[in-house]
Amino acid sequence: MYLFKRARDLQQFLQNIRLEGQSIGFVPTMGALHPGHLSLVERAKQENQFTVCSIFVNPTQFNDPKDLDLYPRTPGKDIRMLASVGAHLIFMPSPGEIYPPGLQTGLDISFGLLDKVMEGEFRPGHFQGVAQVVKRLLDLVGPDALYLGQKDFQQVAIIRHMAGQLRLPVRIVMCPTLREADGLAMSSRNVRLSPELREKAPIIFETLTAGKDMLEDFHPEEIEHFALGRLSIPGFKPEYFEIIDGNTLQPVEDPAKTDYIVACTAVWAGNVRLIDNMIWKSPGC
Ligand code: PAJ
Repeated sequence: MYLFKRARDLQQFLQNIRLEGQSIGFVPTMGALHPGHLSLVERAKQENQFTVCSIFVNPTQFNDPKDLDLYPRTPGKDIRMLASVGAHLIFMPSPGEIYPPGLQTGLDISFGLLDKVMEGEFRPGHFQGVAQVVKRLLDLVGPDALYLGQKDFQQVAIIRHMAGQLRLPVRIVMCPTLREADGLAMSSRNVRLSPELREKAPIIFETLTAGKDMLEDFHPEEIEHFALGRLSIPGFKPEYFEIIDGNTLQPVEDPAKTDYIVACTAVWAGNVRLIDNMIWKSPGC
């Protein structure tokens, strides 16, 4: 396994990989890896000859500086985990490599309504930062395929939109959310939960599951109301629970007339913000 810290070294190395005709699969991460991240690496390995994983805690996507400071950093463990699944290359740049002085990395893309709702509403500027770093990483890595988790459903929509607008020649693959045995979506933030809150956290998955069963008989607004109530247990504070069209991310009015329905939620568990979602109806099902 190779490890690069400098953008220029990475580019030179990957140019040779491409010249050899090898396809490149890319998994961007912010580290503090867990099996959910590794599942993306495994998928990339299945579909490509060469797999690259980046670890970079991107400052431009943190709207809250406290969250950036508290973001867990476990580089030694991350490297061992990536080696265990056979990633071919890790890119661990410093902020100066991603945002060198004088390089214009900001994007001038309108996301329409995609970045106005849900995470976009509660985390202003977050998706501009995500798009900025992913574009820069794609420029450096030049992959054939980009692997992203459904766990961050809105992020996938934003990156797809960016790739379409900029006509980037990359295939975007959305991979399923990996969960703990009790249903809690794996997340780097879970380690910050107190034992009491961790024990109660499966309420998020349970509520998403219960809501899905109500879809035939209740209006989406009624389900949202039910879900917000159910998530309001001591220690927990839901920020939103939205039933949206998976393409436009706009609220679903009539489930019968929508073929792609996703429920998305963000919940504060103490001072840890957790997000999760579930696809309730998808094209072809
Ligand atoms: P990070 O939160 O580290 O996540 C990296 C990738 O792992 C994302 O595509 C995310 O959706 C996926 N992922 C996280 N938890 C998962 C789970 N339980 N199951 C499956 N996949 C999961 O998302 C980011 O970093 C950043 O915004 C990034 C795209 C790297 C840009 O900085």
